[in-house]
Amino acid sequence: MNGPREPIGVIGTGYVGLVTAAGFAELGNEVYCVDIDEAKIEVLRSGEVPIYELGLRETIERNRERMHFSTSLADAVANARLLFVCVGTPPTYAGDADLSAVNAVVEAMPADGEHALVMKSTVPCGTGRSIQRVFAEQGKGRLAYVSCPEFLKEGSALQDFLEPDRVVVGADEEGWAPDAVCELYSPLQAPLVRTDVASAEMIKLAANAFLATKISFINEIANVCEETGANVLEVARGVGLDQRIGPKFLSAGIGYGGSCFTKDVSALKLLAANSGYHFQLLGSVIEVNELQKRRVVAKLARHLGELAGKRIGLLGLAFKPNTDDMRGASSLVLAARLAAEGATVRAYDPIASEEALKVMPELDCVPRVQDVLRDADAVVLVTEWPELVALDWAVAAELMAGKVVIDGRNALDSAAVRSAGLLYEGIGVA
Ligand code: UDX
Repeated sequence: MNGPREPIGVIGTGYVGLVTAAGFAELGNEVYCVDIDEAKIEVLRSGEVPIYELGLRETIERNRERMHFSTSLADAVANARLLFVCVGTPPTYAGDADLSAVNAVVEAMPADGEHALVMKSTVPCGTGRSIQRVFAEQGKGRLAYVSCPEFLKEGSALQDFLEPDRVVVGADEEGWAPDAVCELYSPLQAPLVRTDVASAEMIKLAANAFLATKISFINEIANVCEETGANVLEVARGVGLDQRIGPKFLSAGIGYGGSCFTKDVSALKLLAANSGYHFQLLGSVIEVNELQKRRVVAKLARHLGELAGKRIGLLGLAFKPNTDDMRGASSLVLAARLAAEGATVRAYDPIASEEALKVMPELDCVPRVQDVLRDADAVVLVTEWPELVALDWAVAAELMAGKVVIDGRNALDSAAVRSAGLLYEGIGVA
């Protein structure tokens, strides 16, 4: 590392903001974090971390003296040239991205040539161009604009920050700002994609849409495997060894969840539609994912008959392990569908129950996995938490009233389940 590190501002202390701030603090930057939520800033100042992410608390703790928290944008503006925008862009009722938080930040930006807005939030392609137009109209034309999308995965976000596959820096004009952003990331020695703003925005949306497509594709292959007797695990292994395809994101299951895939795939589809293009492929990706969540209900009905009155246990609720995030979680659809069929649903998750109850207050979440297993007619592995994957199935069999185990993530040891006298069914596996 050469010379002193550049101080930065991070606007928005949600998931992306905090990970970005902690990551840069770890690299030695002074980081000025800003959020309009006073309670959140108080929590952060007191040394607590309001979200769960592996290693985040420790990283923030380790770099405390370099991390500053404030509710005033002026603190970041006074101390840093590069102002990273990390505010939420949730879906609107129409399914597009809601840019109201982004627009509020744009309004508050200083009108000088010494600062740059660095957009980390995922925004529709074309947003950067219209923000730059607004800057010009408001007499803030000297303010630089850089797009620098994030590709963090929940659960491994800090590692993804420190070891990115690539860093994308988009700017429509050469100048100090994109150079400074590139310099900021240079210690990571990651491949750098320096491009224009619209392409940077599209890289992010296209990457998520492609990954979601890969998952829906393997899920459809799994469904065909079930009809033909092939095993999707073997198929994915054989297909994934083709270097043009690659082995990752070929795990069949009960559908993808999370805030990004669900939001970004539909935002890209609507972005295309708004400009008159019908993105057919993405329509199918979304539909396959929705049907995939519901196929579990059909599997249960095949084994148990009428679901009314049956006791079904859900093992895991979070959209994936190592997070308490319930946004877009397949468990929500599954629990709602089972309840609608008249089944009694009980669920256990090591950490996501509290979040789950916020979105589904009627869900019967129990504090111990044994309480889900006890008297259950069937259980479904929804999230492949290590402690659930390592369950002792002989003990489980004693507690359960019925025998059906649906492995929604193809993560269990099917032989161990079967040798406990239980009936195992995965997704696309014989
Ligand atoms: C994703 C992208 O990976 C990341 O680059 C982007 O910045 C944000 O969105 P994340 O939402 O944290 O990250 O989760 P990810 O690990 O990608 O998993 C998404 C969902 O897909 C999970 O529900 C997971 O269970 C599911 N999945 C993933 C599959 O069903 N099969 C797979 O093979 C891979």
